Amino acid sequence: MSARYKELEYWDNRYREQEQLQIGGHEWFGDYRDFAHLVARELRPETGGLVLGCGTSSLSAELHKEGVRPLVSIDYSPVCIKEMAQRHANAPDMSWMVMDARHLQFPDETFDLVIEKGTLDAMMVDEKDPWRVSQDTITLVDQVLSEVSRVLTPRGCFMSITFSPPHFRARHYAQPQYGWSVSCDTYGKDFHYFFYTMHKGGQLTSLDLARGQSLYKPHEDQEQTPTLLECDDEDFLNNIHI
Ligand SMILES: C[S@@+](CC[C@H](N)C(=O)[O-])C[C@H]1O[C@@H](n2cnc3c(N)ncnc32)[C@H](O)[C@@H]1O
Repeated sequence: MSARYKELEYWDNRYREQEQLQIGGHEWFGDYRDFAHLVARELRPETGGLVLGCGTSSLSAELHKEGVRPLVSIDYSPVCIKEMAQRHANAPDMSWMVMDARHLQFPDETFDLVIEKGTLDAMMVDEKDPWRVSQDTITLVDQVLSEVSRVLTPRGCFMSITFSPPHFRARHYAQPQYGWSVSCDTYGKDFHYFFYTMHKGGQLTSLDLARGQSLYKPHEDQEQTPTLLECDDEDFLNNIHI
């Protein structure tokens, strides 16, 4: 991922260009149908949801079709929020708000479902070595996760979709203060993406707790560890065959 993915200006320009060229935009980490079964198993009647960093993805529209209503989608780019609000102007139970995922402007316990796809990845691009995460990034991710935990209902669920495997990503999620359990599935035919599900009110296993603690202990072998984050080309993530 490019270091520019952390800049609001980058996303505004990208979405402005997309609009001018009248192209739908890039869908991160595959098609919704590839992971729809993982979402569906968590849905209950009257599930209300929040999408973090929605971009111009079809994810919000797909969730809405699945019956997640009301559905609020936020992004810190006003350009994409304006575009998405126009695109979905006829769906009154879908709303679009310019908002920073680190400072959610919702009361405690508002949503049964919070979901993000590629948003935390974009926020973590400064990290070139996922074994040794900087304090700044730990704090940034914790700000988002604390907010997610706060706005989830007591039995709510947080879904996080990423290319980052459990030994790097689960340790951010496996912190006791969020009050949730952590599980991970994969999807995708060639490249496997990771689908994390956090259940509010669930327990962390001892492996999760050890992972969580490892976030604060630098990995000894980090010099030899190849990382996907070194790749600057997002197409690599969609086209790689392993
Ligand atoms: C990699 S894109 C993913 C977009 C979309 N979720 C998808 O699956 O196609 C990352 C998105 O996160 C948004 N974003 C990054 N940091 C954010 C923040 N602090 N608060 C809200 N949105 C943010 C960007 O504007 C961008 O739309």
